[in-house]
Amino acid sequence: MLMADVTATPTMVTDKGLDRVIIGDSAKSFIDGAEGVLEYVGIEIDDLARNSTFEECCYLLWYDRLPTADELASYEKDIRSHYMLSDNIKQMLQQTPKDASPMHVVRTLVSALGMEDPECNDQSIEAEERKALRVLAKTPAIIAGFDRHRRGESLIDPDPNLNIATNFLLMLNGEMPGEQTARALDVCLILHADHGINASTFATMVAIGTQSDMYSAITAAIGTLRGPLHGGANERVMRMLQEIGSIDAVEGFVTGRLERKEKVPGFGHRVYKAYDPRAKYLKTFAETIADETGNHDLYEMSSTIEGIMEAAVGAKGIHPNVDFFSATSYYSMGLAIDLFTPVFALARNAGWAAHALERHEDNRLIRPRCNYTGPHGAPYVAIENR
Ligand code: ACO
Repeated sequence: MLMADVTATPTMVTDKGLDRVIIGDSAKSFIDGAEGVLEYVGIEIDDLARNSTFEECCYLLWYDRLPTADELASYEKDIRSHYMLSDNIKQMLQQTPKDASPMHVVRTLVSALGMEDPECNDQSIEAEERKALRVLAKTPAIIAGFDRHRRGESLIDPDPNLNIATNFLLMLNGEMPGEQTARALDVCLILHADHGINASTFATMVAIGTQSDMYSAITAAIGTLRGPLHGGANERVMRMLQEIGSIDAVEGFVTGRLERKEKVPGFGHRVYKAYDPRAKYLKTFAETIADETGNHDLYEMSSTIEGIMEAAVGAKGIHPNVDFFSATSYYSMGLAIDLFTPVFALARNAGWAAHALERHEDNRLIRPRCNYTGPHGAPYVAIENR
Protein backbone atom coordinates (compact mmCIF):
# COMPACT_ATOMS: atom_id res chain seq x y z
CA MET A 1 0.00 0.00 0.00
CA LEU A 2 1.39 3.46 -0.95
CA MET A 3 1.03 6.04 1.83
CA ALA A 4 1.52 9.81 1.64
CA ASP A 5 5.00 11.01 2.60
CA VAL A 6 4.49 11.89 6.26
CA THR A 7 7.26 14.51 6.13
CA ALA A 8 5.87 16.48 3.17
CA THR A 9 4.13 19.78 3.90
CA PRO A 10 2.09 21.91 1.49
CA THR A 11 4.93 24.46 1.21
CA MET A 12 7.35 21.88 -0.18
CA VAL A 13 7.95 21.56 -3.92
CA THR A 14 9.35 18.72 -5.91
CA ASP A 15 12.14 19.92 -8.19
CA LYS A 16 14.32 17.13 -9.52
CA GLY A 17 17.07 19.35 -10.93
CA LEU A 18 16.63 22.06 -8.24
CA ASP A 19 16.12 24.57 -11.11
CA ARG A 20 13.57 26.51 -9.08
CA VAL A 21 15.44 26.44 -5.79
CA ILE A 22 17.43 29.38 -4.47
CA ILE A 23 19.87 27.94 -1.98
CA GLY A 24 20.71 31.23 -0.22
CA ASP A 25 22.62 34.46 -0.73
CA SER A 26 25.99 34.82 -2.43
CA ALA A 27 28.08 37.86 -3.34
CA LYS A 28 30.43 35.96 -5.67
CA SER A 29 29.16 35.68 -9.23
CA PHE A 30 26.08 37.15 -10.85
CA ILE A 31 24.53 35.41 -13.83
CA ASP A 32 21.74 36.75 -16.01
CA GLY A 33 20.88 33.78 -18.18
CA ALA A 34 18.31 35.67 -20.26
CA GLU A 35 20.68 38.51 -21.18
CA GLY A 36 23.93 36.52 -21.21
CA VAL A 37 25.69 38.41 -18.42
CA LEU A 38 28.32 37.10 -16.01
CA GLU A 39 30.02 39.21 -13.35
CA TYR A 40 32.46 38.30 -10.61
CA VAL A 41 31.63 40.50 -7.59
CA GLY A 42 29.98 42.99 -9.93
CA ILE A 43 32.73 43.18 -12.56
CA GLU A 44 31.84 41.99 -16.06
CA ILE A 45 33.65 38.88 -17.19
CA ASP A 46 34.81 40.63 -20.40
CA ASP A 47 36.49 43.36 -18.37
CA LEU A 48 38.25 40.80 -16.23
CA ALA A 49 39.34 38.68 -19.20
CA ARG A 50 40.82 41.75 -20.88
CA ASN A 51 42.48 43.38 -17.90
CA SER A 52 42.86 41.03 -14.95
CA THR A 53 44.89 37.96 -14.07
CA PHE A 54 43.74 34.63 -12.68
CA GLU A 55 45.37 35.34 -9.31
CA GLU A 56 43.66 38.72 -9.08
CA CYS A 57 40.29 37.08 -9.84
CA CYS A 58 40.90 34.49 -7.11
CA TYR A 59 41.49 37.34 -4.66
CA LEU A 60 38.39 39.12 -5.92
CA LEU A 61 36.24 36.03 -5.46
CA TRP A 62 37.61 35.18 -2.01
CA TYR A 63 37.64 38.67 -0.53
CA ASP A 64 34.85 40.35 -2.53
CA ARG A 65 37.00 43.22 -3.85
CA LEU A 66 39.98 43.86 -6.10
CA PRO A 67 43.30 43.86 -4.22
CA THR A 68 45.70 46.80 -4.01
CA ALA A 69 49.10 46.23 -5.65
CA ASP A 70 50.63 45.30 -2.27
CA GLU A 71 47.80 42.96 -1.37
CA LEU A 72 48.06 41.21 -4.73
CA ALA A 73 51.83 40.84 -4.44
CA SER A 74 51.50 39.36 -0.96
CA TYR A 75 48.68 37.00 -2.06
CA GLU A 76 50.71 35.81 -5.06
CA LYS A 77 53.75 35.27 -2.85
CA ASP A 78 51.64 33.19 -0.52
CA ILE A 79 50.30 31.03 -3.37
CA ARG A 80 53.78 30.54 -4.83
CA SER A 81 55.19 29.46 -1.47
CA HIS A 82 52.84 26.46 -1.70
CA TYR A 83 53.54 25.47 -5.34
CA MET A 84 55.85 22.58 -4.42
CA LEU A 85 54.44 19.09 -3.80
CA SER A 86 55.78 17.13 -0.81
CA ASP A 87 57.94 14.05 -1.47
CA ASN A 88 55.04 11.97 -0.25
CA ILE A 89 52.60 13.36 -2.83
CA LYS A 90 55.24 13.11 -5.58
CA GLN A 91 55.72 9.45 -4.68
CA MET A 92 51.97 8.83 -4.79
CA LEU A 93 51.85 10.56 -8.18
CA GLN A 94 54.58 8.33 -9.53
CA GLN A 95 52.76 5.24 -8.32
CA THR A 96 49.50 6.00 -10.13
CA PRO A 97 48.70 3.77 -13.11
CA LYS A 98 49.85 5.54 -16.28
CA ASP A 99 46.54 4.85 -18.00
CA ALA A 100 44.47 6.37 -15.21
CA SER A 101 42.05 9.16 -16.06
CA PRO A 102 43.73 12.45 -15.03
CA MET A 103 40.52 13.55 -13.30
CA HIS A 104 40.69 10.47 -11.05
CA VAL A 105 44.32 11.30 -10.28
CA VAL A 106 43.59 14.97 -9.49
CA ARG A 107 40.61 14.04 -7.31
CA THR A 108 42.68 11.43 -5.43
CA LEU A 109 45.74 13.60 -4.88
CA VAL A 110 43.84 16.74 -3.88
CA SER A 111 42.17 14.48 -1.33
CA ALA A 112 45.62 13.20 -0.27
CA LEU A 113 46.80 16.78 0.35
CA GLY A 114 44.41 16.79 3.33
CA MET A 115 46.27 13.88 4.95
CA GLU A 116 49.50 15.80 5.23
CA ASP A 117 48.08 19.15 6.32
CA PRO A 118 48.58 19.65 10.07
CA GLU A 119 45.67 22.11 9.99
CA CYS A 120 43.26 19.63 8.45
CA ASN A 121 41.10 19.47 11.57
CA ASP A 122 41.27 23.19 12.33
CA GLN A 123 37.90 24.45 11.14
CA SER A 124 38.48 28.15 11.67
CA ILE A 125 37.81 30.28 8.61
CA GLU A 126 41.49 31.30 8.57
CA ALA A 127 42.62 27.67 8.42
CA GLU A 128 40.04 26.84 5.74
CA GLU A 129 41.36 29.77 3.70
CA ARG A 130 44.92 28.49 4.01
CA LYS A 131 43.77 25.02 2.91
CA ALA A 132 42.07 26.54 -0.13
CA LEU A 133 45.29 28.38 -0.96
CA ARG A 134 47.27 25.14 -0.78
CA VAL A 135 44.85 23.34 -3.10
CA LEU A 136 44.93 26.25 -5.55
CA ALA A 137 48.74 26.33 -5.49
CA LYS A 138 49.36 22.59 -5.76
CA THR A 139 46.74 21.44 -8.30
CA PRO A 140 48.85 22.59 -11.29
CA ALA A 141 51.82 20.48 -10.11
CA ILE A 142 49.52 17.46 -9.68
CA ILE A 143 48.12 17.75 -13.22
CA ALA A 144 51.47 18.50 -14.89
CA GLY A 145 53.27 15.90 -12.77
CA PHE A 146 50.82 13.15 -13.71
CA ASP A 147 51.06 13.98 -17.40
CA ARG A 148 54.86 13.80 -17.26
CA HIS A 149 54.75 10.57 -15.24
CA ARG A 150 52.51 8.86 -17.79
CA ARG A 151 54.81 10.03 -20.61
CA GLY A 152 57.78 8.53 -18.75
CA GLU A 153 59.31 11.97 -18.12
CA SER A 154 60.71 13.16 -14.81
CA LEU A 155 58.73 15.70 -12.77
CA ILE A 156 59.69 19.34 -13.05
CA ASP A 157 59.74 21.48 -9.94
CA PRO A 158 57.61 24.65 -9.95
CA ASP A 159 59.24 28.05 -10.33
CA PRO A 160 58.07 30.42 -7.57
CA ASN A 161 58.83 33.42 -9.80
CA LEU A 162 56.04 32.54 -12.22
CA ASN A 163 52.29 32.95 -12.14
CA ILE A 164 50.01 29.90 -12.04
CA ALA A 165 49.41 29.70 -15.81
CA THR A 166 53.06 30.08 -16.84
CA ASN A 167 54.28 27.78 -14.11
CA PHE A 168 51.77 25.09 -15.11
CA LEU A 169 52.90 25.13 -18.74
CA LEU A 170 56.55 25.04 -17.65
CA MET A 171 55.96 22.03 -15.38
CA LEU A 172 53.97 20.31 -18.13
CA ASN A 173 56.28 20.84 -21.10
CA GLY A 174 59.68 21.33 -19.48
CA GLU A 175 60.21 24.64 -21.26
CA MET A 176 59.07 28.21 -20.75
CA PRO A 177 55.87 28.87 -22.72
CA GLY A 178 55.63 31.83 -25.07
CA GLU A 179 54.15 34.92 -23.46
CA GLN A 180 51.04 34.74 -25.64
CA THR A 181 50.31 31.11 -24.84
CA ALA A 182 50.77 31.72 -21.10
CA ARG A 183 48.43 34.70 -21.25
CA ALA A 184 45.94 32.67 -23.30
CA LEU A 185 45.82 30.06 -20.54
CA ASP A 186 45.59 32.78 -17.89
CA VAL A 187 42.50 34.17 -19.65
CA CYS A 188 40.93 30.69 -19.88
CA LEU A 189 41.48 30.28 -16.13
CA ILE A 190 39.76 33.64 -15.50
CA LEU A 191 36.76 32.62 -17.63
CA HIS A 192 36.39 29.31 -15.75
CA ALA A 193 37.04 30.63 -12.22
CA ASP A 194 33.47 30.81 -10.96
CA HIS A 195 29.91 30.36 -12.11
CA GLY A 196 27.29 30.58 -9.39
CA ILE A 197 25.93 27.41 -7.87
CA ASN A 198 26.81 25.04 -10.69
CA ALA A 199 26.77 21.30 -9.94
CA SER A 200 30.35 21.03 -8.65
CA THR A 201 30.09 24.18 -6.53
CA PHE A 202 26.90 22.80 -5.08
CA ALA A 203 28.79 19.60 -4.20
CA THR A 204 31.39 21.76 -2.38
CA MET A 205 28.62 23.49 -0.46
CA VAL A 206 26.95 20.24 0.56
CA ALA A 207 30.25 18.95 1.95
CA ILE A 208 31.25 22.18 3.71
CA GLY A 209 27.69 22.42 5.03
CA THR A 210 28.30 19.33 7.18
CA GLN A 211 31.32 21.19 8.66
CA SER A 212 33.64 18.90 6.74
CA ASP A 213 36.94 20.42 5.57
CA MET A 214 38.10 22.21 2.41
CA TYR A 215 39.98 19.18 1.03
CA SER A 216 36.89 16.99 1.31
CA ALA A 217 34.70 19.68 -0.21
CA ILE A 218 36.97 20.26 -3.22
CA THR A 219 37.43 16.52 -3.69
CA ALA A 220 33.64 16.19 -3.95
CA ALA A 221 33.61 19.05 -6.44
CA ILE A 222 36.27 17.50 -8.67
CA GLY A 223 34.33 14.24 -8.81
CA THR A 224 31.23 16.21 -9.80
CA LEU A 225 32.95 18.36 -12.41
CA ARG A 226 34.14 15.24 -14.19
CA GLY A 227 30.69 14.34 -15.59
CA PRO A 228 30.01 14.92 -19.31
CA LEU A 229 26.97 17.08 -18.51
CA HIS A 230 29.29 19.47 -16.64
CA GLY A 231 33.07 20.04 -16.99
CA GLY A 232 33.68 16.80 -18.87
CA ALA A 233 31.92 18.27 -21.91
CA ASN A 234 35.08 20.05 -23.14
CA GLU A 235 36.84 16.73 -23.74
CA ARG A 236 33.76 15.40 -25.54
CA VAL A 237 33.75 18.47 -27.81
CA MET A 238 37.31 17.79 -28.90
CA ARG A 239 36.68 14.10 -29.47
CA MET A 240 33.61 15.03 -31.51
CA LEU A 241 35.69 17.37 -33.69
CA GLN A 242 38.22 14.60 -34.23
CA GLU A 243 35.47 12.10 -35.05
CA ILE A 244 33.93 14.49 -37.61
CA GLY A 245 37.36 14.94 -39.17
CA SER A 246 36.59 17.56 -41.86
CA ILE A 247 34.32 20.48 -42.66
CA ASP A 248 32.47 18.42 -45.29
CA ALA A 249 31.38 15.90 -42.70
CA VAL A 250 30.03 18.46 -40.20
CA GLU A 251 26.51 18.86 -41.54
CA GLY A 252 25.73 15.14 -41.74
CA PHE A 253 27.19 14.54 -38.30
CA VAL A 254 25.30 17.30 -36.51
CA THR A 255 21.94 16.78 -38.21
CA GLY A 256 22.28 13.03 -37.65
CA ARG A 257 22.80 13.62 -33.93
CA LEU A 258 19.85 15.97 -33.69
CA GLU A 259 17.60 13.56 -35.61
CA ARG A 260 18.54 10.78 -33.21
CA LYS A 261 17.80 13.20 -30.33
CA GLU A 262 21.40 12.99 -29.16
CA LYS A 263 22.88 16.06 -27.53
CA VAL A 264 25.78 17.87 -29.12
CA PRO A 265 28.52 18.41 -26.51
CA GLY A 266 29.39 22.04 -25.77
CA PHE A 267 25.84 23.31 -26.41
CA GLY A 268 23.06 24.19 -24.00
CA HIS A 269 23.10 25.40 -20.45
CA ARG A 270 20.78 25.13 -17.47
CA VAL A 271 20.93 28.89 -16.82
CA TYR A 272 21.93 30.61 -20.08
CA LYS A 273 19.22 30.80 -22.67
CA ALA A 274 21.07 33.71 -24.33
CA TYR A 275 24.64 33.32 -25.60
CA ASP A 276 27.01 32.31 -22.76
CA PRO A 277 29.25 35.39 -22.33
CA ARG A 278 32.26 33.17 -21.68
CA ALA A 279 31.68 31.39 -24.99
CA LYS A 280 31.36 34.76 -26.74
CA TYR A 281 34.78 35.78 -25.48
CA LEU A 282 36.29 32.36 -26.10
CA LYS A 283 35.05 32.25 -29.68
CA THR A 284 37.22 35.17 -30.80
CA PHE A 285 39.96 33.91 -28.61
CA ALA A 286 39.80 30.38 -30.07
CA GLU A 287 40.00 31.79 -33.59
CA THR A 288 43.14 33.80 -32.83
CA ILE A 289 44.95 31.01 -31.07
CA ALA A 290 43.88 28.41 -33.67
CA ASP A 291 45.22 30.65 -36.46
CA GLU A 292 48.49 31.25 -34.64
CA THR A 293 49.06 27.55 -34.08
CA GLY A 294 47.97 26.24 -37.49
CA ASN A 295 44.66 24.84 -36.23
CA HIS A 296 42.40 27.01 -38.37
CA ASP A 297 40.47 23.97 -39.69
CA LEU A 298 39.48 23.11 -36.17
CA TYR A 299 38.09 26.58 -35.59
CA GLU A 300 36.27 26.49 -38.89
CA MET A 301 34.66 23.17 -38.04
CA SER A 302 33.54 24.56 -34.67
CA SER A 303 32.14 27.62 -36.33
CA THR A 304 30.24 25.52 -38.87
CA ILE A 305 28.78 23.34 -36.11
CA GLU A 306 27.67 26.49 -34.33
CA GLY A 307 25.92 27.77 -37.48
CA ILE A 308 24.01 24.51 -37.98
CA MET A 309 23.06 24.31 -34.30
CA GLU A 310 21.93 27.94 -34.28
CA ALA A 311 19.57 27.33 -37.21
CA ALA A 312 18.26 24.07 -35.77
CA VAL A 313 17.95 24.73 -32.03
CA GLY A 314 19.06 28.35 -31.38
CA ALA A 315 15.42 29.43 -31.00
CA LYS A 316 15.14 26.99 -28.07
CA GLY A 317 17.93 28.91 -26.30
CA ILE A 318 20.60 26.35 -27.09
CA HIS A 319 23.88 28.08 -27.89
CA PRO A 320 27.55 27.20 -27.37
CA ASN A 321 28.56 27.02 -23.70
CA VAL A 322 31.97 27.64 -22.12
CA ASP A 323 33.15 24.15 -23.05
CA PHE A 324 32.64 24.51 -26.79
CA PHE A 325 35.34 26.99 -27.72
CA SER A 326 37.58 26.25 -24.75
CA ALA A 327 38.15 22.82 -26.31
CA THR A 328 39.67 24.34 -29.47
CA SER A 329 41.64 26.83 -27.37
CA TYR A 330 43.19 24.18 -25.10
CA TYR A 331 43.95 21.92 -28.05
CA SER A 332 45.68 24.76 -29.87
CA MET A 333 47.75 25.42 -26.73
CA GLY A 334 49.03 21.85 -27.04
CA LEU A 335 47.18 20.34 -24.05
CA ALA A 336 46.33 16.64 -24.19
CA ILE A 337 42.55 16.22 -24.54
CA ASP A 338 42.11 14.47 -21.22
CA LEU A 339 43.79 17.42 -19.46
CA PHE A 340 41.03 19.85 -20.49
CA THR A 341 38.74 18.99 -17.56
CA PRO A 342 41.61 18.94 -15.02
CA VAL A 343 42.57 22.44 -16.21
CA PHE A 344 38.94 23.46 -15.72
CA ALA A 345 39.23 22.08 -12.16
CA LEU A 346 42.44 24.04 -11.62
CA ALA A 347 40.56 27.23 -12.49
CA ARG A 348 37.35 26.38 -10.64
CA ASN A 349 39.33 25.86 -7.39
CA ALA A 350 38.89 29.63 -7.15
CA GLY A 351 35.09 29.51 -7.15
CA TRP A 352 34.74 26.31 -5.13
CA ALA A 353 36.81 27.83 -2.34
CA ALA A 354 35.06 31.21 -2.59
CA HIS A 355 31.63 29.63 -2.11
CA ALA A 356 32.86 27.24 0.60
CA LEU A 357 34.37 30.16 2.56
CA GLU A 358 31.22 32.21 2.11
CA ARG A 359 29.09 29.29 3.28
CA HIS A 360 31.41 28.64 6.20
CA GLU A 361 30.54 32.07 7.55
CA ASP A 362 26.78 31.55 7.24
CA ASN A 363 26.19 27.84 7.29
CA ARG A 364 23.15 25.64 7.37
CA LEU A 365 23.26 21.89 6.78
CA ILE A 366 21.94 21.12 3.27
CA ARG A 367 19.47 18.29 3.57
CA PRO A 368 16.61 18.05 1.04
CA ARG A 369 13.96 15.35 1.05
CA CYS A 370 12.39 13.12 -1.56
CA ASN A 371 8.96 11.70 -2.21
CA TYR A 372 9.17 8.10 -1.12
CA THR A 373 7.69 5.87 -3.83
CA GLY A 374 8.57 2.43 -2.49
CA PRO A 375 6.37 -0.03 -0.61
CA HIS A 376 5.44 0.04 3.08
CA GLY A 377 4.99 -2.80 5.52
CA ALA A 378 6.75 -5.26 3.21
CA PRO A 379 7.37 -8.69 4.79
CA TYR A 380 10.95 -9.75 5.57
CA VAL A 381 11.30 -13.02 3.66
CA ALA A 382 13.93 -15.43 4.95
CA ILE A 383 16.77 -15.88 2.43
CA GLU A 384 15.98 -19.56 1.79
CA ASN A 385 12.42 -18.66 0.81
CA ARG A 386 13.23 -15.96 -1.80
N1 ACO B 1 22.31 19.44 -28.09
C1 ACO B 1 21.06 19.28 -28.60
N2 ACO B 1 19.93 19.53 -27.91
C2 ACO B 1 20.07 19.95 -26.65
C3 ACO B 1 21.34 20.16 -26.07
C4 ACO B 1 22.48 19.89 -26.85
N3 ACO B 1 23.69 20.03 -26.35
N4 ACO B 1 21.16 20.60 -24.81
C5 ACO B 1 19.85 20.67 -24.59
N5 ACO B 1 19.18 20.27 -25.70
C6 ACO B 1 17.72 20.19 -25.86
C7 ACO B 1 17.19 18.92 -25.19
O1 ACO B 1 17.19 17.82 -26.06
C8 ACO B 1 15.80 19.37 -24.79
O2 ACO B 1 15.01 19.36 -25.95
P1 ACO B 1 13.43 19.01 -25.88
O3 ACO B 1 12.83 20.09 -25.02
O4 ACO B 1 12.99 19.06 -27.29
O5 ACO B 1 13.35 17.66 -25.23
C9 ACO B 1 15.99 20.82 -24.38
O6 ACO B 1 17.13 21.26 -25.13
C10 ACO B 1 16.25 21.00 -22.91
O7 ACO B 1 17.37 20.19 -22.54
P2 ACO B 1 17.65 19.66 -21.06
O8 ACO B 1 18.70 18.60 -21.11
O9 ACO B 1 16.37 19.30 -20.37
O10 ACO B 1 18.20 20.97 -20.36
P3 ACO B 1 19.02 21.03 -19.03
O11 ACO B 1 18.88 22.38 -18.50
O12 ACO B 1 18.71 19.90 -18.12
O13 ACO B 1 20.49 20.72 -19.59
C11 ACO B 1 22.71 20.66 -20.11
C12 ACO B 1 21.56 21.53 -19.59
C13 ACO B 1 22.85 19.41 -19.20
C14 ACO B 1 24.00 21.45 -20.03
C15 ACO B 1 22.42 20.22 -21.55
O14 ACO B 1 22.26 21.35 -22.36
C16 ACO B 1 23.48 19.29 -22.12
O15 ACO B 1 23.44 18.08 -21.83
N6 ACO B 1 24.46 19.82 -22.92
C17 ACO B 1 25.53 19.05 -23.48
C18 ACO B 1 26.61 18.80 -22.43
C19 ACO B 1 27.40 20.07 -22.11
O16 ACO B 1 27.87 20.77 -22.99
N7 ACO B 1 27.60 20.33 -20.79
C20 ACO B 1 28.39 21.48 -20.31
C21 ACO B 1 27.50 22.54 -19.70
S1 ACO B 1 28.47 23.96 -19.23
C22 ACO B 1 29.24 23.46 -17.85
O17 ACO B 1 28.77 22.69 -17.08
C23 ACO B 1 30.57 23.95 -17.60
